[in-house]
Amino acid sequence: MNILIAGHEKINLRITQELIQTHITDSHVFLCSSPDEIAPKMKEYNIDIVLLEIIIPQIKGINILKNIRSKKEYNDIQIIILTEIIDKEVFKLCFENGANDYIYKPIDLIEFVARMNASIKARRNIIALQKTNDTVTTQYKKLQAMTHKLKDTQFNLIQKEKLTALGEIAAGIAHEINNPMGFISSNLDTMNRYIQKIRNLILLYRNFVQLPIDANINHELLLREKAAIADIEQKQKIDFVLDDLTSVILESRDGVERVTKIVQSLINLAKTGTENEIAYNDLSQIAEEALLIVKHETKCIADIDKQIEVPLYLFCNKGQIGQVILNILLNAIHAVKNQSRKSMGKITIKAYHADEYVMCKISDDGPGIKKEHRNRIFDPFFTTKDVGSGVGLGLSVAYDIVVKNHGGELTVDSEPGSGTSFTIKLPANSGKIYNAEE
Ligand SMILES: Nc1ncnc2c1ncn2[C@@H]1O[C@H](COP(=O)(O)OP(=O)(O)OP(=O)(O)O)[C@@H](O)[C@H]1O
Ligand SMILES: [Mg+2]
Repeated sequence: MNILIAGHEKINLRITQELIQTHITDSHVFLCSSPDEIAPKMKEYNIDIVLLEIIIPQIKGINILKNIRSKKEYNDIQIIILTEIIDKEVFKLCFENGANDYIYKPIDLIEFVARMNASIKARRNIIALQKTNDTVTTQYKKLQAMTHKLKDTQFNLIQKEKLTALGEIAAGIAHEINNPMGFISSNLDTMNRYIQKIRNLILLYRNFVQLPIDANINHELLLREKAAIADIEQKQKIDFVLDDLTSVILESRDGVERVTKIVQSLINLAKTGTENEIAYNDLSQIAEEALLIVKHETKCIADIDKQIEVPLYLFCNKGQIGQVILNILLNAIHAVKNQSRKSMGKITIKAYHADEYVMCKISDDGPGIKKEHRNRIFDPFFTTKDVGSGVGLGLSVAYDIVVKNHGGELTVDSEPGSGTSFTIKLPANSGKIYNAEE
């Protein structure tokens, strides 16, 4: 402990120094007989305890006390007043200005040693507290850095899992896009042929219109031309062409809309909604988009029973919730597909409001989940799929998104042999909760 004794008479200072050095172990004592020396010495020797003499009638010492305490770095050192004064008002003033204790003069050895030791103990406690505080601050900073890192990892996982899911269904999506593209392309050929026919007919009409109409008009020629046009119209099936042209255009427009929808759903899903992209979204639309993406996967495997309330507004990250629904749907499709059953399976998706929540329940009539697996399905990397066909992240990512990112619940209900139901429960205002945590 570094102790500074500040007073007027050098001889008194020396006596006090002697007392401390004799009775207090592990102490280094520095003396100060002029107020001007106090600040430099405190700085130089890193003082823990100041013994400050205040004498009658001067109470100049109070100003020194105020001065020391006014500096932030001396906020928690110990200051003991050394005095002959017995005036309670002066004590009050000392304590109000930051003194920790007082010792009467002439010094009583037992009292002096006891008070000094108490002060040393208090100072040591403060130092220990500061150390703990520093450690806690460092740990907290480390924890913050780790949380950031974890968030990054989680974000990457979400992205990776999304890519895996998309990779799995890419062929199906390509087919869903190729199919309309195929008939649009063939419709364009048809339209081209029809337009050629119509153009030829228009040429005939133009020729007919340009025939000179005067007094010498050859009625027979007119009738022949008219009959030729009617004949061509019939041979080229112009009535059918005109009707069919309308339906070919409508069908092509429908195909373009299908492709646009699929592409838009993919774009929406791809937007992981980086970190805090929370907005007011319609879950019915998110579910429709996920269904559109997996549409091809369900063909010949399961009928989809849609019971979706419209609209179902909630604050959420659209890309992330889309991914949750997609992951659960894909699991249901895989489960049914793996049964290699003769009849079609059934996947039901129900979405509805319930009080302050938006619910989405996805059920399948697949094989169900074994009892011993039920507690593990949300664990990262738990999979019962063959090596290479499942990473085991779908449900773990879904759980993080629903529970951690949206303050919701993700539960499973499954009996081996009687199918599986996953229920997503999202607070309609989860976005607000999510933002508040940031
Ligand atoms: N509807 C379901 N029916 C039966 N089992 C299921 C169902 N959904 C999930 N499971 C089980 O839970 C496991 C974990 O699912 P999860 O989606 O996390 O990973 P995965 O589908 O195996 O791999 P991926 O990372 O490709 O999604 C699955 O391997 C499967 O055993
Ligand atoms: Mg999965």
